[in-house]
Amino acid sequence: MRTKLVVGNWKLNGSLAANRALLEAVVAGLPGTGKARFGVCVPAPYLAQAQHLLAGSMLEWGAQDVSRFAGGAYTGEVSAAMVAEFGSRLALVGHSERRSIFGDADAVVAEKFALAAAAGLVPILCVGESLAEREAGVTESVVARQLDAVLETSGVASLGRAVVAYEPVWAIGTGRTASAQQAQDVHGFIRGRIAARDREVAAGLPILYGGSVKAGNAGELFAMPDVDGGLIGGASLIAAEFIEICRAA
Ligand code: 13P
Repeated sequence: MRTKLVVGNWKLNGSLAANRALLEAVVAGLPGTGKARFGVCVPAPYLAQAQHLLAGSMLEWGAQDVSRFAGGAYTGEVSAAMVAEFGSRLALVGHSERRSIFGDADAVVAEKFALAAAAGLVPILCVGESLAEREAGVTESVVARQLDAVLETSGVASLGRAVVAYEPVWAIGTGRTASAQQAQDVHGFIRGRIAARDREVAAGLPILYGGSVKAGNAGELFAMPDVDGGLIGGASLIAAEFIEICRAA
């Protein structure tokens, strides 16, 4: 049985004071059953604060992106090794906002994935189709292309210590969640595509759903056989809401 995982993605939100209040409330409210794992991906400047507040707690932490470069003359970049130095366990790569706003192409995402893994982080590879792509009926080929870029660079074994997050772009921040069946269909497709290369890796791979997950819909989504938890945006900024989602897992 795969352990459920719920990860908050704060995006470009936070302040030292707000983070402290949020993290202290979440840690105090998390279910302590050990049946699920929980994490937050914070803006890079707050990794030290997360480490300070969360060390020894049930809540893991990490970054929302890493550089495609290991180091050198790349102004403004943050390397995976730097993220790891702050006790981080997690790093998102390929979030749709990175892909669409900052131009992270599949090949760039694959480089980031490889460096995150090499730094000892658990990469959370985000994939998902736009509304136009869903309406055109190409969801599976888009997700396949995004997955294959990483499989070709890092190999299927690299997914033995990674997470995939399916986030349909049309469901992110829109309040329009994929139905549990829509999520299951794509999650099943992802697991099947990995299984074609390695059944064992596929069986153990956590596949999270992201896109307008709230306390009110988390239970139904997480009950699907191939939905192993969630990647939570807006609702991860509200302690009570995030705690409820964690409880649903
Ligand atoms: P929302 O939960 O705000 O829709 O964001 C989802 C997301 O992008 C998480 O990475």
